[in-house]
Amino acid sequence: MISLPGLLDTEAIRKDFPILDRTVHDGRKIVYLDNAATSQKPRQVLDVLNGYYERQNSNVHRGVHVLAEEATAAYEGARDKVAGFVNAPSRDEVIFTKNASESLNLVANMLGWADEPYRVDRGTEIVITEMEHHSNIVPWQLLSQRTGAKLKWFGLTDDGRLDLSNIDQVITEKTKVVSFVLVSNILGTINPVEEIVRRAQEVGALVVIDASQAAPHMPLDVQALQADFVAFTGHKMCGPTGIGVLWGRQELLEDLPPFLGGGEMIETVSMHSSTYAPAPHKFEAGTPPIAQAIGLGAAVDYLNGIGMENIQAHEHAITEYAVRRLLEVPDLRIIGPTTAEDRGAAISFTLGDIHPHDVGQVLDEQGIAVRVGHHCARPVCLRYGIPATTRASFYLYSTPAEVDALVDGLEQVRNFFG
Ligand code: ALA
Repeated sequence: MISLPGLLDTEAIRKDFPILDRTVHDGRKIVYLDNAATSQKPRQVLDVLNGYYERQNSNVHRGVHVLAEEATAAYEGARDKVAGFVNAPSRDEVIFTKNASESLNLVANMLGWADEPYRVDRGTEIVITEMEHHSNIVPWQLLSQRTGAKLKWFGLTDDGRLDLSNIDQVITEKTKVVSFVLVSNILGTINPVEEIVRRAQEVGALVVIDASQAAPHMPLDVQALQADFVAFTGHKMCGPTGIGVLWGRQELLEDLPPFLGGGEMIETVSMHSSTYAPAPHKFEAGTPPIAQAIGLGAAVDYLNGIGMENIQAHEHAITEYAVRRLLEVPDLRIIGPTTAEDRGAAISFTLGDIHPHDVGQVLDEQGIAVRVGHHCARPVCLRYGIPATTRASFYLYSTPAEVDALVDGLEQVRNFFG
């Protein structure tokens, strides 16, 4: 068994994840390398979800009965946990959404309906990057089409990093908002937040960070990032699906208008007009994803129990090993940085001219789960002139043996396709 410095005790950790014992295709143990798409869930989270439905299920903020009070306390307790997890100055800055896409759409809509000085309108500019997930492209395209604001973006270098050489021309006095991904889901690149934030602050633009591929894998401190909004999702960090987070600076949340209207987000309603509840409730219309938020709170407890620094060190070791081993495979080209220093644990590659869907299928026959396609980041594939990639992505339970299984599997793919 290979031992690398920084590895977690995966033997113990894997016992927490029942699904990792599953076999597929006639008894092959699953090698789950699709963590950037969604992570597996530990027993500790599954038990909390079950326990909630078995003992506390009720709507929140509405009832005076015991179940309603317990459900409300658990739901709001989850908000406290998430606030602590990202070092938010206030729990009221944590808005629960259904996923990171909804979080980013929420910001785009807040800014589109806002009054000055935040309003995104004709004559102003929105800046994104060419390595964004579609969830951080399409909401801004919609906003640009609706308002007439100009959409601009940073391009990419050949080695999968942001090209910031023209940062002063891309982010200008007209820029109202700069929205970018902290860790790319397709390239794995970790972006230089400080440099972008510094320039955005110089021109008074708001900064939005998509931390979907960062929150599960490294300590996340919204104060240190100096962003105005940070979006992420629960299901990639051991939590359930259907729960996302938007953290936003309190003054902004006070000033900006709601997007969805309905129950729970109001103070008073008459037939002529309404006033709104303070944040975060102003942005949580309707019955929220209660069980999912509570499950996310359990995931935060679980990750904190292991320690985000330890998870980061583990993934760093696995990523370094995976990059090294993958580069030994003939005809394999990594799309993204080939050093482990400034990359996360999602590694995209092409294998000669074998189509990634074929690569994925032959790997699947061996029990190896990877994602193939454009990974909801199609502009990246266009930039590098490829139709798609195969992506292996690792997490706290990934082992060097699984990296070896992937490399052996790729040998079989090469043999199969001659
Ligand atoms: N955004 C997820 C991924 O990259 C679904 O696979």
